Amino acid sequence: MAAVPVDLLKRYEAAGQEHLLHFYPKLSPTEQEDLVAQLTALDVERVNRVFKTAIEYEKAGASSAAINPLPASTFETIIGEPEKEVQWREIGLKAIAAGKVGVLLMAGGQGTRLGSSDPKGCYDIGMPSHKSLFQYQAERIGRVSRLAGGASIPWYVMTSGPTRKPTEAFFKEHNFFGLPEKDVIFFEQGTLPCLTMDGKILLDKPYSIAVAPDGNGGLYAALRSPLSPSDSKRTPLSDMAARGIAYIHTYGVDNCLVRVADPVFIGYSITKGAACGAKVVRKAYPTESVGVIAMRGDKFSVVEYSEITEAQANEIDTATGELAFRAANIVNHFYTREFLESIESIEDQMAFHIARKKIPNVEIPSGEFVKPAKPNGIKMELFVFDVFPFTQKMAVLEVPRQEEFSPLKNAPGTGVDDPQTSKRDLLAQQQRWLEAAGAKVAEGAEVEVSPKVTYAGEGLEGVKGWILTKNGSADTLEALHLLQ
Ligand code: UTP
Repeated sequence: MAAVPVDLLKRYEAAGQEHLLHFYPKLSPTEQEDLVAQLTALDVERVNRVFKTAIEYEKAGASSAAINPLPASTFETIIGEPEKEVQWREIGLKAIAAGKVGVLLMAGGQGTRLGSSDPKGCYDIGMPSHKSLFQYQAERIGRVSRLAGGASIPWYVMTSGPTRKPTEAFFKEHNFFGLPEKDVIFFEQGTLPCLTMDGKILLDKPYSIAVAPDGNGGLYAALRSPLSPSDSKRTPLSDMAARGIAYIHTYGVDNCLVRVADPVFIGYSITKGAACGAKVVRKAYPTESVGVIAMRGDKFSVVEYSEITEAQANEIDTATGELAFRAANIVNHFYTREFLESIESIEDQMAFHIARKKIPNVEIPSGEFVKPAKPNGIKMELFVFDVFPFTQKMAVLEVPRQEEFSPLKNAPGTGVDDPQTSKRDLLAQQQRWLEAAGAKVAEGAEVEVSPKVTYAGEGLEGVKGWILTKNGSADTLEALHLLQ
């Protein structure tokens, strides 16, 4: 029987986590190897630091800094501003045509509320084409690439332990939805050990530590991690650098209206000289429970509804007549690569959020596997917007909600942010585009125009005068013609 490797034991003793080796002498040789491999790879000192900062942050409570609306210089809208939109689109398309733009999808969530066993991006919201969310996103990338003269737009797809394999398999099965395989790059967000309430790492087997995904803010560390164990030198960030990518559009998987690689947003952020940009929609009503982007002291921040007073929630911006705190955050960001590269230096200051959970684990010293009835430990998560307070050059762009945001969060039939509301909102958008181009969609007809035909309503001039009466989806104008 192999003895506990001395260096490893010393490292774990110094970190106060040597209990993880408690069962080592009784393990089989393979189990011993497994445990040693895990413990060697784990940055246990970082885990301790992350825990310490998270606890301190939680104890300090929300910062007492005054919460104020965004300064006018950092905020613009495209609502009622068609000329600005045209200008920004042109700038964005130029950057895309120059091969400087990449797209980053956060698809590591487990979609617990939706309740589907597949990754959320595989979900069919019931449109006439029965396309998945991934397919809409892929086709939009393809269309933007064509609008920009055929430039390649690499698509970095962040998965997690539970979503990586089924996501890769889905893309392969669908032949990458027509995109070049070399331009779809999968990577995986990290995990962090689950801890006891006082910061000791838990075991889920005598030879393995209990881990949980590190939240969508795990993105930042994952961008510096190897793309796969067999390709340890290449990271998403190094791949971006090698391709000459300077600007990255990042978004969440579950918004059926998402404008992937949106030239308008990219052009806006470039024009503003932003290191980090955020797309927002107008808060629908003062008490809507969404986080809004605002200032906390002199720092950009996402402020929850519960953190502002009723008076603030109702405050009107006298310049526009709109709510002062209206910039609802929709997980849709712009970054320069330079900014993403710089995050490593501030990462230790970003406090993870603590969730107290019931975590099944192997107890020490009994070796008994317990499923607790009450929360017994903590999981630590970072949110993607946790970088905002560290951003000096931020720019926020407001876009119309009905055109750009309808998230899929809840199970069918919930009535809010569910598959039916996604389908309703996407069909309504298609109808608006067709009618703006001079066609008519008959009452009750479900007509879908593929992103292969139009990205944001452009290129539909040919439909003028058509009266579309049949349900169906069209990947070409000719196919659309048949729906009359
Ligand atoms: P949500 O926070 O809405 O989580 O994710 P979810 O997994 O989709 O749904 P629930 O809460 O389990 O029901 C917002 C975005 O962040 C991604 C999701 O895939 C989604 O695009 N995300 C979330 C990650 O990439 N990793 C995570 O660990 C969590």
